[in-house]
Amino acid sequence: MSHEMIRLNHIVISFRQKKQIIEAVKDVTVHINQGDIYGIVGYSGAGKSTLVRAINLLQKPSAGTVTVDGDLLFADGEIQLSAAELREKRRDIGMIFQHFNLMARMTARENVAFALKHSKLTKAERHAKVDRLLDLVGLSDRADNYPAQLSGGQKQRVAIARALANDPKILISDEATSALDPKTTKQILKLLQELNQTLGLTIVLITHEMQIVKDIANRVAVMQNGHLVEEGSVLDIFSNPKEELTRDFINTATGTQEALAKIEQQDIVVNLPQNAMLVQLEYAGSSTDEPILNDIYKHYDVSANILYANIDILDDTPVGELIVVLTGTESRLEQAKNALTASGVTVKILKGGA
Ligand SMILES: Nc1ncnc2c1ncn2[C@@H]1O[C@H](COP(=O)(O)OP(=O)(O)O)[C@@H](O)[C@H]1O
Ligand SMILES: [Mg+2]
Repeated sequence: MSHEMIRLNHIVISFRQKKQIIEAVKDVTVHINQGDIYGIVGYSGAGKSTLVRAINLLQKPSAGTVTVDGDLLFADGEIQLSAAELREKRRDIGMIFQHFNLMARMTARENVAFALKHSKLTKAERHAKVDRLLDLVGLSDRADNYPAQLSGGQKQRVAIARALANDPKILISDEATSALDPKTTKQILKLLQELNQTLGLTIVLITHEMQIVKDIANRVAVMQNGHLVEEGSVLDIFSNPKEELTRDFINTATGTQEALAKIEQQDIVVNLPQNAMLVQLEYAGSSTDEPILNDIYKHYDVSANILYANIDILDDTPVGELIVVLTGTESRLEQAKNALTASGVTVKILKGGA
């Protein structure tokens, strides 16, 4: 059974800047279980980095409580551990960043070994451990290279090996793939997924790309303007997003946004007939087993012209998205829409159907 690894309760983080107070994080509560790959999505400035820095108290909250693996780290405006205890606790929490933050004058091996400088291991044990870590991230043959001699993906692998040096329980990844090309991004995500599965590592994955969440996360929180606006399993959020912002992120990830832009130019949409409406349909799981569009034709005499279709498999469950023009009489269209909704399909009217 997995237990709760990270509990952030009612976290507020504000910065005083000149005479202004910036509230970067506003009453955010997040619970993350051991073994989760927990995505935190939001645009730049949403407060993601500030929030996760509260997990290891690199950022002291203004209010709220922080609990990691059962230990209360922060409450009543105070750090609850001694300096030594906090140092110890921080070893449980590795971090990787967009720009890798490697030491330029150290080789890959030295960068990883540097993270072990306070460890109780003997020199020989350290050496063996660094070798093992570099092997784990697939970089054994590059141990003696300097960062400048490595590609972006290789540099991030060194950073991951370094972050794992003290056998952390948690890895925080703050936009770790944002500086990488799509192919390298996939490879790094695959590595993170393997580490999650083989080591049971809990991963907190900050990103502005929902595609990344879709690829490897099991839960996701969406942040906007310091608030956590929506949270849930990736399957629930993708199949039934409640917030407009979440929908935007998902549409970008699934390619729906691009498709929509093209669809809006199409003649049938530009000159949408009186008795037609353009709708976006989202469904998950069992709904997909039913031939929904056939049904509304059969029962309500409403025909569907499919302009776009996308199906993803999340958690072994199909999640589908359709953009269709529905044509029928006004009352029939209304009935068809209600029937779709009743069968668990989310219906969003994009045009027409007034
Ligand atoms: N040390 C700081 N001092 C003042 N303002 C800050 C500081 N760190 C972050 N902020 C502000 O807090 C807000 C959230 O920033 P951040 O957490 O970096 O967002 P994100 O990671 O989602 O892009 C931004 O308005 C940012 O300018
Ligand atoms: Mg950030």
